[in-house]
Amino acid sequence: MKTIIVKNNNEGTQKAFELIQAEMEKGHVSTLGLATGSTPIPLYDKMVASDLDFTQLTSVNLDEYVGLGETDTQSYRYFMNEHLFSQKPFKATYVPNGKAVDGAAECANYDAIIEANPIDIQILGIGSNAHIGFNEPGTPFDSTTHEVGLTESTIEANTRFFDKKEDVPTKAYSMGIASIMKAKKIILLAFGEAKAEAIKNTIDGPVTEEAPASILQNHDDVIIIADEAAAKLL
Ligand code: GLP
Repeated sequence: MKTIIVKNNNEGTQKAFELIQAEMEKGHVSTLGLATGSTPIPLYDKMVASDLDFTQLTSVNLDEYVGLGETDTQSYRYFMNEHLFSQKPFKATYVPNGKAVDGAAECANYDAIIEANPIDIQILGIGSNAHIGFNEPGTPFDSTTHEVGLTESTIEANTRFFDKKEDVPTKAYSMGIASIMKAKKIILLAFGEAKAEAIKNTIDGPVTEEAPASILQNHDDVIIIADEAAAKLL
């Protein structure tokens, strides 16, 4: 696990962008694993502003709220279209279908998509309880795509994107921990003091399902980019 501590979000975003760009220039990227949340937005802005060409790339996103579809402005599909795909076309883009009628079938289908499109670089944010994707504390490390019940703290944290707390979906489909671990390279971004505890547990803590991101200690190509505030407990 390599940790890069940067001054701020700006510097961290630039680093992440350069890493992606370098891998793309080497011809090492067919599939990008993408994340939502506020953390990667500046990275997507940079990708949009760049002259990088994604038309031969596939993207696979981590998660989606159960019940929300692409026309719902809070869905992760909408978010991705808005921040990246509508401006930088990809060959194919995958996000779990939050409107799927059969949840189990949707999860199996998404696993098949991940299998068919091995992820070369996975971008991750992190929740304040060290969740990755929507894999909340207690999620088995061997999990594949599954339906999750969101914790109170995650619902609380995501309320800022909705009009009111009651509007935040309580369930989501998420790529599992085992699928995330199969990515060849993982870049985790953490900015701000609210992530300090999670970053400490991820890097210095025991590898435990109680801190989902701690599993990344067992992956051989992980780069954590944290700003000084997120790294302050290291
Ligand atoms: C959600 C997403 C995660 C993301 C997390 C942190 O729970 N499912 O992928 O890492 O939010 O979001 P933010 O980057 O806004 O702090």
